[in-house]
Amino acid sequence: MASNRFGRIFAFSSFGESHGPAIGCLVDGCPARTPLSENDIQPFLDRRRPGRNKYVSPREELDQVKILSGVFDGLTTGHPILLLIENQDQRPEDYAKLQDVFRPGHADATYQAKYGIRDHRGGGRSSARETASRVAAGAVARKMLGSFPATRGIKVMAGLVRLGSVAAEKAVWDLPAINSNPFFCPDPTAIQAMQAEMEQRMRQGDSVGGEVEIRAFGVPPGFGEPVYDRLDARIGAACLGLNAVKGVEIGDGFAASHGVGGRDHNDQMRTPPSGILSEAYQSNHAGGILGGISTGQEIVVRCAIKPTPTIACPQKTVDRDWREVELAASGRHDPAVCIRAVPVLEAMLWLILADFFLLKRAGGRPE
Ligand SMILES: Cc1cc2nc3c(=O)[nH]c(=O)nc-3n(C[C@H](O)[C@H](O)[C@H](O)COP(=O)(O)O)c2cc1C
Repeated sequence: MASNRFGRIFAFSSFGESHGPAIGCLVDGCPARTPLSENDIQPFLDRRRPGRNKYVSPREELDQVKILSGVFDGLTTGHPILLLIENQDQRPEDYAKLQDVFRPGHADATYQAKYGIRDHRGGGRSSARETASRVAAGAVARKMLGSFPATRGIKVMAGLVRLGSVAAEKAVWDLPAINSNPFFCPDPTAIQAMQAEMEQRMRQGDSVGGEVEIRAFGVPPGFGEPVYDRLDARIGAACLGLNAVKGVEIGDGFAASHGVGGRDHNDQMRTPPSGILSEAYQSNHAGGILGGISTGQEIVVRCAIKPTPTIACPQKTVDRDWREVELAASGRHDPAVCIRAVPVLEAMLWLILADFFLLKRAGGRPE
């Protein structure tokens, strides 16, 4: 069964391959009268696009988005919004040697086994080129949430908090700091060490993994639909649904199982003078979600991302006839996919929040 749709009420379906003529998505369920233009989407695509600096894939894609439907006189009409991004810098010849050879760590062998046919040019649909559609849809979700008083104050920020052996200090969370370096790292003191790590890996023709943290501020309490649509479960699925993400933590995550007692882990409560739930908690080990429902505190999510599978140094693999071969891949690749995963994970959180907001309005307590 095909699965190219994300979301229940605020939903999008993506289409297109790495080396086809275009990629894009159809956003459905966006309420009518949301102000929307290409200018609301383009800056987010610009942050994700390849070719921005020497630490990301050098493929030169401008990722210019066109809105083909669902917007009239600068407002959404309540009908499907088609977002189209043309592919411009394809070099299918770079992938000729991958026609019959499976890249270790990539999706080539599993796609071939499942479908019996595979677009080897850039990995076809398994390429993270598809994630531009997520970013475009996420920008629409953000704009929609910004147009309702209850959700206007939400801010989502993601940043790279680890690159290989270099860990960032997580204290500073502001967008100018995150956007001021090539790694989307919130800690300016870690940049030099990250550069050194990248230079070394790139010299070796190797790649490296990292960790992305996503924070959502100003999410009202009550987002999440227990028991099978818990907010944390949806976030986990969305993050693991991104190429190369191999682990997800909410709040203290795995550290909560490392011997700490409930006395220290539980977020103690006291009477909030304001009567607002989020202000009753004295700490946020839970990461802003309890019982699958947002508490109104900051939502804190961390994703572990593996090293890029396609690398220049030689690897052992097999071809379609099970012959053992050695592969030293060429072509244009991200030496650390965790960098460009940052804007994509941010977009996924916007999309989840948009969907839960509309679900809450549909079935939850009235505003
Ligand atoms: C933003 C982003 C960019 C990526 N760029 C590349 C790339 O240039 N080369 C590559 O081999 N893999 C890249 N990947 C990872 C592959 O898409 C992914 O590892 C592959 O589809 C196999 O899926 P899996 O790792 O989730 O099992 C990228 C992933 C993301 C999120």
